Amino acid sequence: MIEAASPKTPHRDRFRELIRSLTGISLPPSKVQMIDQRLRRRVVAFGLTDTESYLEQLLGGSLPDNELRTVIDLITTNTTSFFREPNHFDFLVETIAPKVAARGRPGRPARLKLWSAASSEGAEAYTAAMMLEEARRGGHDFDFAILGTDLSERMVERANAAVYGTDQLTTVPPELLRRYFLSSRDPGLAGKARVVPDLRRRVKFRNLNLMDTRYPVDRDVDVIFLRNILIYFDPATKEQVVDRLAGHLRPGGYLIVGHAESMVVRCSALRQVKPTIFQKN
Ligand SMILES: C[S@@+](CC[C@H](N)C(=O)[O-])C[C@H]1O[C@@H](n2cnc3c(N)ncnc32)[C@H](O)[C@@H]1O
Repeated sequence: MIEAASPKTPHRDRFRELIRSLTGISLPPSKVQMIDQRLRRRVVAFGLTDTESYLEQLLGGSLPDNELRTVIDLITTNTTSFFREPNHFDFLVETIAPKVAARGRPGRPARLKLWSAASSEGAEAYTAAMMLEEARRGGHDFDFAILGTDLSERMVERANAAVYGTDQLTTVPPELLRRYFLSSRDPGLAGKARVVPDLRRRVKFRNLNLMDTRYPVDRDVDVIFLRNILIYFDPATKEQVVDRLAGHLRPGGYLIVGHAESMVVRCSALRQVKPTIFQKN
């Protein structure tokens, strides 16, 4: 629904509509303060006095070409963490990995394909990678490949770099931290650690907008993590995104959403097997 523009904030209203159409993110009027806060540095960078005049220039095309990209990066909420909603990773190793392993043949292990569809800076994808590698060490014979995608180019760059501050790693169990992260002697990387090359090799990130009508991704994915992203979308977008993603799952594959999002999944191709886990028919 397009709301009538407020006479006081016509540019903000057009901006909200633009962001919704480009990213699916709905910015209700209650988020005006958030928009102001996140754009403040851009307003200052262009020597302007307030958000309205900045948005007037942005929408009028008077700012540099890549400014809209920068703004989209600022508007997205990228909060994430390692081992967030850990029961999903338990399900991955206890239910999904053994099923995939059973698909393999002697000398030809099956490959588990996982897609983290709003991967932010990669914590979700690398948590999955650590857990899957642990399952392999525990004797399950399978291979795995992880794709992480995100709208934010800044997040994709960070995820591919795979460097995290020790403050971000507090939720990683110490044993896994020792096994899967390396700290550097480089003073520029003090207080940081990088995912080991063996794990990085299996996890790739790229830019993808879930608003696109087609996704250049395999259609036999075993599990898609779509967590903490649907909450930002309006109802029609939520439904379209879930439908499109379901088309990329192999029959029997799983879609996993965040705990606040289970109610919004309505897709005839999927049946709910746990409160936040859906399986393709
Ligand atoms: C809150 S984070 C969730 C990260 C991770 N899935 C988790 O649960 O920890 C949401 C991510 O969705 C991304 N995002 C927002 N709109 C998107 C879109 N239209 N297409 C792809 N990613 C989008 C944001 O850039 C952000 O990194």
